[in-house]
Amino acid sequence: MVDGAVYPSLQDRVVLVTGGASGIGASIVEHFCRQRARVGFVDCDIEAADALIARLSDAGLAVPAFRACDLTDIDELRTAIDAIRHDLGRITVLINNAAHDERHTIDSVTPEYWDDRMAVNLRHQFFAAQAVWHGMAEAGGGAIVNLGSVSWMIGQGGMPGYSAAKSAVVGLTRSLARDLGVHNIRVNSVLPGWIMTKRQIDKWLTPEGEAELMKNQCLKRKLEPADVARVVVFFASDEAAACTNQNYIVDGGWV
Ligand SMILES: NC(=O)c1ccc[n+]([C@@H]2O[C@H](COP(=O)([O-])OP(=O)(O)OC[C@H]3O[C@@H](n4cnc5c(N)ncnc54)[C@H](O)[C@@H]3O)[C@@H](O)[C@H]2O)c1
Repeated sequence: MVDGAVYPSLQDRVVLVTGGASGIGASIVEHFCRQRARVGFVDCDIEAADALIARLSDAGLAVPAFRACDLTDIDELRTAIDAIRHDLGRITVLINNAAHDERHTIDSVTPEYWDDRMAVNLRHQFFAAQAVWHGMAEAGGGAIVNLGSVSWMIGQGGMPGYSAAKSAVVGLTRSLARDLGVHNIRVNSVLPGWIMTKRQIDKWLTPEGEAELMKNQCLKRKLEPADVARVVVFFASDEAAACTNQNYIVDGGWV
């Protein structure tokens, strides 16, 4: 059933993925389902979530639990996490994946829009961790993987709010790793390069952009959501039992 490595430690583990309906998140959900984990995900896109669930069901996989929520509203996020915990049991793996890479010029940004960028790209990662860590500690440990980005490392312009939030994911990861390590909770982040999700292809991929990417990456192929999902699954598994406080780049050798 699994196309790739099998991690026995993930079987029956309760996994929560934010932003799991599409893009990299959907691939992460699928990879955990293929590991026979008990998977729940939250997203605001109900149509995409339903399509993913139908696809996984057609593939003969256990159907993940889904709760619709706008995770910029922390009360909504907490309610959705509680509901998934109620459905599946104690959450011991959290994948903080949701984000929104909308472009914006410096002059267009209002204080409200800035706060909104932090809310959709950073704030929920902390509050999701806050909502699950006690259960992880009671279970004897857990794993949190935060999705960052190389955007701020490669000097990409055009979205300062997104890039600032994504650089802060590194600091959040290292801060949580320090505080939660005493409970055997590992916290790492995975920083994707340019990954060819449908959204990226539809919105940003041009022949010129692709040529530039091929010039910059060591590896001369376009990266797929599964390239990131496989690394996320590894960091969630007991194979990475000694790995915490780290930020791992998956960009084909761009940075
Ligand atoms: N695709 C890339 O090239 C790339 C590059 C660097 C980093 N990343 C990071 O990887 C992660 C996944 O990226 P992606 O490209 O798959 O993103 P995406 O935009 O394709 O998908 C994000 C998911 O989050 C959901 N979401 C967005 N806002 C939400 C909200 N307010 N409430 C609930 N759900 C919400 C969306 O509906 C979607 O399903 C993100 O953290 C992103 O920053 C992606």
